[in-house]
Amino acid sequence: MWVFGYGSLVWKVDFKYERKVVGYIKGYLRRFYQHSIDHRGVPGRPGRVVTLIQSNNPNSKVWGVAYKIRKEDVDQVTQHLDFREKNGYIKRTVTFHPKEALEPFELTLYVATEENESYAGEASIEDIAKQVVTSQGPSGTNKEYVYNLAAAMRELAPDVEDDHLFSLEAAVRRLDPDSKKT
Ligand code: SIN
Repeated sequence: MWVFGYGSLVWKVDFKYERKVVGYIKGYLRRFYQHSIDHRGVPGRPGRVVTLIQSNNPNSKVWGVAYKIRKEDVDQVTQHLDFREKNGYIKRTVTFHPKEALEPFELTLYVATEENESYAGEASIEDIAKQVVTSQGPSGTNKEYVYNLAAAMRELAPDVEDDHLFSLEAAVRRLDPDSKKT
């Protein structure tokens, strides 16, 4: 089994895998349009985390990481990830395009669609940043989620400009009293 990570699964890997491949999926946009009440926020004061929305451009890309799970670990990893992603995410099968060497292949990802009750939807980068900078939950601060994802994507796919992610990172840093201002 292969699983695609485009959010916390990119940088917080608490499951067993045998291989990791960088690449992208097509036809989606990565957006901080999902509330988190179990990881980066709490009920009543939700944080914001990423989900995928359909793009009008079938060729738009979301870069991330595909993890290959060994057959004997599939049940345990699936149970673990289903629990970890329980706040609104469902599984979907999509085509993954590896950055190099391999042919495209099908894999599973977790997506939070508009129908789930924690769907937050569109908001300005400034408003999302204000929410992020003041939110935290059992897994840690919401700003840590944004900073770690931005740093990981910069390292994994240095030439890829993810405007939404990097503008949000910059907006959160501007509001974050603990962030070094350069
Ligand atoms: C993912 O990382 O692929 C799903 C969204 C998240 O947990 O941040």
